[in-house]
Amino acid sequence: MFGPRIVGDNGIELRPPTLEDYKLFTDWQMRPEVTRFWGPRFTTDTVATAEERLKRHLESNDSVSWSIAYGGETVGFTGIFDISWTDRDGETGIFIGRHDLYGKGIASEAVRLRMAFIWNELGLHRTHNWIALANEGSWRANQKSGYSQIGTYPRSWFRSGEWFDEWLGEAFPNTFPAGKLPSPWRDEGHPK
Ligand SMILES: CC(C)(COP(=O)(O)OP(=O)(O)OC[C@H]1O[C@@H](n2cnc3c(N)ncnc32)[C@H](O)[C@@H]1OP(=O)(O)O)[C@@H](O)C(=O)NCCC(=O)NCCS
Repeated sequence: MFGPRIVGDNGIELRPPTLEDYKLFTDWQMRPEVTRFWGPRFTTDTVATAEERLKRHLESNDSVSWSIAYGGETVGFTGIFDISWTDRDGETGIFIGRHDLYGKGIASEAVRLRMAFIWNELGLHRTHNWIALANEGSWRANQKSGYSQIGTYPRSWFRSGEWFDEWLGEAFPNTFPAGKLPSPWRDEGHPK
């Protein structure tokens, strides 16, 4: 399914993806600046693939997908996938395709909004993620909204002639930082 629009700070928001957003992804996933620590660096994507991806994500009952917008423009994606409704656990991910905007706090804010939705609307017990240990911007953005590292998967993938270790992280409702709850949950005086 797609997540609802959630308005954050500094012109950053999560919103349901459109087909135009998915077409941007087709281009972004081929850029070396964006794929340093992400993805296969090759694709067979076409416009038809973008349409299929949109339909698959929209109809999925074990994931929630959003586009990330900055100043009204789509700049990336985030979400939770492979949700087990029995274990109440799922894997989160984030991807910002606009590398000219790195380091402006967009991922940190997107993760904050995403985690607030997960804890207050999905009723999950836990979330987890896998991130290249060298991708400090990614694990740091997650850490700021309650993730911590619980393990390392040594030499888990090969990129640009070297092996990289991966961070395994987890977060719980009670690790979301007090005082960082966004609207509307903050205004509703929600417990989390
Ligand atoms: C990794 C990524 C999500 C970071 O997004 P971003 O919007 O630049 O992140 P933020 O600006 O919110 O920065 C988050 C934190 O990491 C730090 N940071 C950002 N980039 C960094 C880098 N290259 N090296 C070290 N620290 C970095 C920031 O200073 C910030 O920490 P602080 O608030 O303590 O200062 C983004 O670069 C991206 O999507 N890359 C391509 C795809 C990808 O790698 N996705 C993640 C796969 S697991």
